[in-house]
Amino acid sequence: MHTRGGSSGSLEEGKTPYVRIINHPNRPLPLRLLQFFLLLLGLGILFSFLSLYASRYLKVETEVSVVHSRFQPCAREPNTIESWIRTPSNLLHHMNDDELFWRASFVPQIQQFPFKRSPKIAFMFLTRGPLPMAPLWEKFFDGNDKLYSIYIHSLPSYQPDFPPSSVFYGRQIPSQVAEWGMMSMCDAERRLLANALLDISNEWFVLLSEACIPIQNFSIVYRYISRSRYSFMGSFDDPGPYGRGRYDEKMSPEVNLTDWRKGSQWFEVNRKLAVDIVEDSLYYPKFEKFCRPACYVDEHYFPTMLSIKSPHLLANRSLTWVDWSRGGAHPAAFGKDDITHEFFKNIFDGEPCFYNNQPTSLCFLFARKFAPSALDKLVANSTLFFGF
Ligand SMILES: *[C@@H]1O[C@H](CO)[C@@H](O)[C@H](O)[C@H]1NC(C)=O
Ligand SMILES: *[C@@H]1O[C@H](CO)[C@@H](O)[C@H](O)[C@H]1NC(C)=O
Ligand SMILES: *[C@@H]1O[C@H](CO)[C@@H](O)[C@H](O)[C@H]1NC(C)=O
Ligand SMILES: *[C@@H]1O[C@H](CO)[C@@H](O)[C@H](O)[C@H]1NC(C)=O
Repeated sequence: MHTRGGSSGSLEEGKTPYVRIINHPNRPLPLRLLQFFLLLLGLGILFSFLSLYASRYLKVETEVSVVHSRFQPCAREPNTIESWIRTPSNLLHHMNDDELFWRASFVPQIQQFPFKRSPKIAFMFLTRGPLPMAPLWEKFFDGNDKLYSIYIHSLPSYQPDFPPSSVFYGRQIPSQVAEWGMMSMCDAERRLLANALLDISNEWFVLLSEACIPIQNFSIVYRYISRSRYSFMGSFDDPGPYGRGRYDEKMSPEVNLTDWRKGSQWFEVNRKLAVDIVEDSLYYPKFEKFCRPACYVDEHYFPTMLSIKSPHLLANRSLTWVDWSRGGAHPAAFGKDDITHEFFKNIFDGEPCFYNNQPTSLCFLFARKFAPSALDKLVANSTLFFGF
């Protein structure tokens, strides 16, 4: 009886204010007001009975959905495999790099996918701002929707103005300032990889600049990359001052002189190597501290690190053609006067290379650097030049 006494006591306390108001000698409550309160009370009781009845009735019909919606009123079907494999609809998130890289490093331990997966190529554009070659890329991508995705890293201040019909619309990732030859450039590349890794359907990752163009049609590019046993990361041992000459003894024992590699910044890697790059915390601090200009870290960090970690997965060459023949610190850039059928024939008929350990003449899928003035001629003649 103890409990009951307690509970009735608290009920009494709850009533006290009412009692006090009703019996207040100085302000006698008008009978009308009292009636009004009683009416409200009655309506309230009636309404709560009705809603109770209604919810019972509904529960019988859709027991499961009612139970679900009671716990997660906003999320739709959050516990299906769909929620784990769905392509993220919005690229803008609020993770910082540490959070993003951690999330991006998740790797399933079961190799077989329990759903149908069409592996995609992620085209990652590392740019300052506009993409002058966008119309040529649009032609290249046309009709291949399910086999690619696009990510753009530009200066944070840049406001893109792609129309909603463009393949580049809404493809900007949260970006930070990246300076050429500095670690912030590698950070931007890792940020692109990490964002692209969030989509489980991306299997290959191509880094491109605003001055890059495709020089083969999409079917050839897709087949070439998807059937390769190796990833196309340029990587070679250069004994000269611009190669081994940039190595710093303080990087050992993590990186020895014989491990030191150089390669083009414009790479293609598979998912495994992309995770290797994003998760790295062993080599990163060494390069950050000891590879500063005139050591250009974006030419050494990924080639060297991957050559140590996963040498058997590297083709050691780039898919992006570039012309260094004019000498100097920057490769040649081509404008509208350079663009001829002959120009591209010379690229296609260049030195042979190895593909899956076999010699081949098809060595390049992309080329740089092209000035905005080259665009119109490229678009007008892309069928003749590139077969798209
Ligand atoms: C792509 O190019 C190759 C060779 O140039 C050609 O055989 C093929 O038909 C082209 N594919 C498409 C879809 O245009
Ligand atoms: C660098 O050399 C040291 C000493 O010979 C060795 O212990 C270390 O494993 C080497 N590092 C790599 C990455 O091979
Ligand atoms: C690329 O170079 C590494 C050494 O850095 C070597 O182990 C690997 O076999 C090379 N890849 C190919 C395809 O030759
Ligand atoms: C390419 O397109 C331009 C128009 O922009 C045209 O003048 C030119 O003759 C075309 N052909 C070649 C081979 O450049």
